[in-house]
Amino acid sequence: MTYMLQEIAEQPEWVERALASERQSAGALAAAVREREIRFAIIAARGTSDNAATYAKYLLEIVAGIPVALAAPSVYTLYDARPKLHSTLVLGISQSGQGTDVVEVLSAARSAGALTACITNNPASPITQVSDHVLLCHAGEERAVAATKTYTTALAVVGLLTAMLSDRRDLLEALGDVPRLMEQTLSVRTAVEQSVARYRYMEECAVLARGINQATALEAALKLTETSYVVAKPFSGADFLHGPIAMVSAGFPCFLYAPPGRAYPFMLELALKLRDRGAELVAVSSNAEILELATVPIAVPVSVDELLSPLVYIVPGQLFAYHLARTKGANPDAPRGLSKVTITR
Ligand code: AGP
Repeated sequence: MTYMLQEIAEQPEWVERALASERQSAGALAAAVREREIRFAIIAARGTSDNAATYAKYLLEIVAGIPVALAAPSVYTLYDARPKLHSTLVLGISQSGQGTDVVEVLSAARSAGALTACITNNPASPITQVSDHVLLCHAGEERAVAATKTYTTALAVVGLLTAMLSDRRDLLEALGDVPRLMEQTLSVRTAVEQSVARYRYMEECAVLARGINQATALEAALKLTETSYVVAKPFSGADFLHGPIAMVSAGFPCFLYAPPGRAYPFMLELALKLRDRGAELVAVSSNAEILELATVPIAVPVSVDELLSPLVYIVPGQLFAYHLARTKGANPDAPRGLSKVTITR
């Protein structure tokens, strides 16, 4: 078995551990946000961690009412700019804790009087040195280059923080149920494994979602790209209609992540439009209506609150990337020319 598959399968366990271990730290950060009357947050991250940041943006804005912007680290590292960040929470997400540019954003933010915090899987990493508050993923060592369990545990910590910031006991309780839902969703593996052969020669595709699952589209596309070398382009379904849909002709593969919730009616309509163009649809949903429109339906066997669905819906995406890589003869544990930690500045 490869590390990637093993780490995908272990996720429910690590997510449970993260939820059980980080309540106090998340509570302390939430208290500091209140005490310092923080009104705005900026999140700095790269790669998969940046996709976790997209989830954080949606969840913090929807549930906690805190406006969130995603940082452009180059503003700090290439242009030496120092935006005015007092009264702001600057959160870095880095599974390794070693991303130089993310660390520099936090360091500059601290000098500018911001409240700084990080989410990392490495408690002894440089990012913790520039963070007033440290939240840990508790994901154990991740050995596959493709990040999986560090992503879902980071999402779980974001969920905890948001629940603490907004005093949402119901969200905390729903989060507690997520490991079980993830575990059940691992059963899609058989369906995924059986369907990937059809895509053995796929070289490009679009990966689509709307709303909070924008994070899922970004992350599923990144997994496909780095493990299977497919040019997988993630789009917000809304943005897709503003131009990119023009590239879809008969047989063009489109992956749709469509859990029930506020974004679902839009995704259903999008599926109909794409079907009219003859697109090849891979739909990931628990809703039969959209699954029936798909060339390849991937039925998610659980229902989950839309706000927490990215933790569950990424599982089929990870499995698809893994099995497709194997089918294409690639090694998903060690994608060509990549190492586990990428340092950019
Ligand atoms: C994940 O699958 C990638 N290999 C990569 O994008 C990774 O997430 C990125 O290098 C970010 O690293 P960090 O979280 O350690 O900063």
